[in-house]
Amino acid sequence: MEGVADLFKFVVKGTAFTSRDQKNVEVLQDSLFCISEDGLIAKIIQPDEAGYKETIQEYSTKGQLQELASDQYILPGFVDLHIHAPQWAQAGTALDLPLYEWLNTYTFPLEAKFSDQAFADRVYSDLVSQLLKNGTTTALYFATIHQKASLRLAEICSEKGQRGLVGKVVMDDPEQNPDYYRDDDAKVAIAETEAFIQEVLELNKHTPQGVYPVVTPRFIPSCTDKSLEGLGALAAKYDVHIQSHCSESDWAHEYVKERFGKNDAVALNEFGLLSEKAVMAHCGFLSDEDMQLFAEKGTAVAHCPISNAYFGNAVTPVAKLLNEYQVEVGLGSDISGGFSPNLFDNIKQAVISSRMLEDGVDKDCCSDKRGVKGSSLTLNEAFYLATAGGGESLSLPIGKLAVDYAWDVQFVTTKGLPIFSETEPLLDVFQKIIYLSRPECIQEVWVQARKVYDKTVEQRKEEI
Ligand code: GUN
Ligand code: FE
Repeated sequence: MEGVADLFKFVVKGTAFTSRDQKNVEVLQDSLFCISEDGLIAKIIQPDEAGYKETIQEYSTKGQLQELASDQYILPGFVDLHIHAPQWAQAGTALDLPLYEWLNTYTFPLEAKFSDQAFADRVYSDLVSQLLKNGTTTALYFATIHQKASLRLAEICSEKGQRGLVGKVVMDDPEQNPDYYRDDDAKVAIAETEAFIQEVLELNKHTPQGVYPVVTPRFIPSCTDKSLEGLGALAAKYDVHIQSHCSESDWAHEYVKERFGKNDAVALNEFGLLSEKAVMAHCGFLSDEDMQLFAEKGTAVAHCPISNAYFGNAVTPVAKLLNEYQVEVGLGSDISGGFSPNLFDNIKQAVISSRMLEDGVDKDCCSDKRGVKGSSLTLNEAFYLATAGGGESLSLPIGKLAVDYAWDVQFVTTKGLPIFSETEPLLDVFQKIIYLSRPECIQEVWVQARKVYDKTVEQRKEEI
């Protein structure tokens, strides 16, 4: 057999779980993941395939084989499809008010503080490290209105090795935003967004895993028609990602209907803000026509199940979006509307919320009217949202363990989980990992074949 020397940067041997499609998880048992110089999965070799033994021999001799222990498993890194980076500073607090009051009482005053670069640096550095430690290898971030601090977030992602998609937030309507925290006017907001796009595109040239600028109108209620129009045009000019909030909460949904006489989805589309690269958070109140429009445009939904339990006023019908309309859907933590930065927590809540939607919750309502049939999601489907669904939503080759996808992975241990048989079916092991593992179970995290978190190294640092 011909030698395979120098073909791969390194080879990893282990058992992995990955979504095959929306409903099925595939087990890749004792497989060899052959990683190319540019950080992609170049080849996956199964134990019964040609070259398996030779590859192990060759890469082990060269010291380029990493072999996982029998209690370790490989999962794709998570994609957080909606997160407010500045709100990390208030995560786990301030969840006692509805959305409108929450924004004005807690969130705008906090975000205004990010005019201070040193403060931004501290919060953003800590957040990116925490996300990596939690297995989040890609994140789609809202920053704040401040161009400089938003760029700092992109730089921190670049330095720490996370794949970051970052938006400088636009909120320019003087009627809707406080004087202490808004863009001066639409013209300034658009000019600063354009400068920010150029800066991040430049940074991306030196960032192997990728950092991407994102056009980010906060949501329709924050923005004038002029800024919405200008941002749609900018997104088209640079062919960049777009993000916003869409039909979240009774209040936000009704506000848009009153202002435009139409739903968020239709209005956003008319401003050029629904595209293949657009991701809209929440979408709890989409009509059937709105869902159809999302499908036609290739626009994705960022489902944020923990946040929705506080601010959403409804459970987003994810099963319907996926199954009836083939809309792309991923999972978002929505820090700090959602309190947890951990996507394992959000996967679990996605399942739980969907089951409550299926059955309904009011005992005084008769059982056949209480819920919405066909709404429940399986664990496999929720796992898909946090991984492959997020990758598809961003139109990036991430979230799956397959050839030509990035080597973005987390290695988790099952030590401490209730596994009492060596012949436990692997798909049961998978379910235990997703339902029961804690962040401490994540031992290594890799992005584009760079190790960005190693629990043993972190522990040693803490001991010193
Ligand atoms: N709508 C507008 N801004 C926000 C925000 O920061 N969080 C959430 N959950 N919804 C919003
Ligand atoms: Fe949000």
